[in-house]
Amino acid sequence: MSDERLVELAIEAREHAYVPYSHFAVGAALLTADGSVYQGCNIENAAYTPSNCAERTAFFKAIYDGERSFSTIAVVGGPEGKPISDWCAPCGVCRQVMREFCDPDSFRIVLARSTDERRSLLLRELLPEGFGPEDLGHPAPAAKDGGAA
Ligand code: THU
Repeated sequence: MSDERLVELAIEAREHAYVPYSHFAVGAALLTADGSVYQGCNIENAAYTPSNCAERTAFFKAIYDGERSFSTIAVVGGPEGKPISDWCAPCGVCRQVMREFCDPDSFRIVLARSTDERRSLLLRELLPEGFGPEDLGHPAPAAKDGGAA
């Protein structure tokens, strides 16, 4: 799948954002190694801290389905109700969630401020010297393991 198409799917996902507090709507589209796409939006909460970012929504949907191998995530964000016009980079917590499941040297994060204006970054660039499963003596998470089909 092209980066342009993945960004389109992130823009579509952004329409689902639940953002009554920040009014900042984010969308993500996560591409698995075998070509499936999981979309996510941010979901806020009156108590603030339970809020979930778009990137983690996409990851958690995919993990639930048994996906364990990921290629790229596209992320778009900006004030609710307006077209995107600026870059929106993943927060530190989301970068750490990516680090759990993704190879820092190959997993790509595609930021976009329009479908035509895109930047592709490696996870290693966004989270240098990160801490991952292998630092606790664990292997990288296993490939698809028979989660819900
Ligand atoms: N947010 C995301 O969903 N992803 C990002 O990459 C940055 C921030 C959300 C969290 C919160 O709902 C809102 O944007 C404002 O911080």
